[in-house]
Amino acid sequence: MRREGVQVREMSAGDLADVSGLCERELTLDRGAGALPAILTRRPHVGLVAEDGPSRAGGAQGQHRAGGAQGQHRAGDAQGQHRAGGAQGQNRLLGACFGAAEPATPAGAERRTGFVDLVVVDRAARRQGIGAQLVAGLRERLAASGCQVIAVRGHGVHYAWPGIDVGYTAAICMAEDLGFQRAGCEVDMRVDLLSVPLDTRAAEERLGRAGIEVRRAGTGDDGPLQASLATTWVPDWIAAITAALRDDHAGLHIALRGQRYVGFCAYGVNRLHEVGPLGTDPGLRGLGIGATLIKRCLADQRDRGLLAADLGWAGPLSFFSHTLNAVISRTYWTYEKDLTAPGRPARWQDRIGLI
Ligand SMILES: CC(C)(COP(=O)(O)OP(=O)(O)OC[C@H]1O[C@@H](n2cnc3c(N)ncnc32)[C@H](O)[C@@H]1OP(=O)(O)O)[C@@H](O)C(=O)NCCC(=O)NCCS
Repeated sequence: MRREGVQVREMSAGDLADVSGLCERELTLDRGAGALPAILTRRPHVGLVAEDGPSRAGGAQGQHRAGGAQGQHRAGDAQGQHRAGGAQGQNRLLGACFGAAEPATPAGAERRTGFVDLVVVDRAARRQGIGAQLVAGLRERLAASGCQVIAVRGHGVHYAWPGIDVGYTAAICMAEDLGFQRAGCEVDMRVDLLSVPLDTRAAEERLGRAGIEVRRAGTGDDGPLQASLATTWVPDWIAAITAALRDDHAGLHIALRGQRYVGFCAYGVNRLHEVGPLGTDPGLRGLGIGATLIKRCLADQRDRGLLAADLGWAGPLSFFSHTLNAVISRTYWTYEKDLTAPGRPARWQDRIGLI
């Protein structure tokens, strides 16, 4: 059944508190889901809300076109008048979504990708076409900003998930029914902070004898650290390390050999219970640097009152399983939809069991 009178419009900064409440209520598999809108608005994004209510002067359509032409905007840039309608009690928030376009077509890639990063609908308003309307709104805007492919997978530093959690059954069904093709699988791992041994003193003494110093990063590292690591690690990881270094709520531990930075591990880049990224210089692996760094982060998280930490979008799995007794805690499927494919591509679901 399609619900009549639903307005889809650009999200404004004034919507964020309500959208956060909706995420907190409806994203039941997530810890601290209310923080997700604030995370996703830390980068250029498209945010849309669906609401019940009369159309207003100026109309949602005009705003849609403005957003589509710009492709992306920050919530804080959007017009405040929409929220004013909600504040007067005229409109009720029914759903919200976030997406983003790749900043530009990556070198060597033929096509630019846009992403669906989060879709959520109030449980009292489900199966009325609102989720599909929100995804269509994102698709329209991402296509207008030059995207030929729409993907559902992790990207960038400030992301919510690496794909769709298979436990969000309705979201999986919706993605597949809307023609997204399953592309891959990612997992999170969880570490029990009360049982994992986190004492690193012996390992640090051993590393010290090999000329490797392990310590907490400080403001004096900001600059030399990124310059040193940027020759080895992807820009997203350098950005994550920088975010951890500059955010009082996050933490970063590093390893040095002489003046050279040879390892790092961050936590709390997005949410306090998340740990990573973690990296050891390829020439110095197998010495215990990575295990020492991540244990120092986990000890911080435990000391800050957490019972468990999550390795989001985790890999290599055996390293974390072996070193930390980490277990696979969440499984995500990633999806893609080719906007340039002629007609509706054959759905793999329709081929199940056929020769
Ligand atoms: C996933 C979610 C956003 C779907 O919103 P919705 O407004 O109910 O979706 P729609 O009514 O637009 O559904 C569109 C189509 O998706 C499919 N679909 C949606 N929910 C489904 C379900 N529970 N079971 C099977 N198919 C479903 C159907 O094909 C549906 O079309 P139909 O109703 O004509 O059969 C909503 O269930 C939700 O908020 N879930 C919790 C949040 C979540 O899991 N988000 C995913 C992380 S991004």
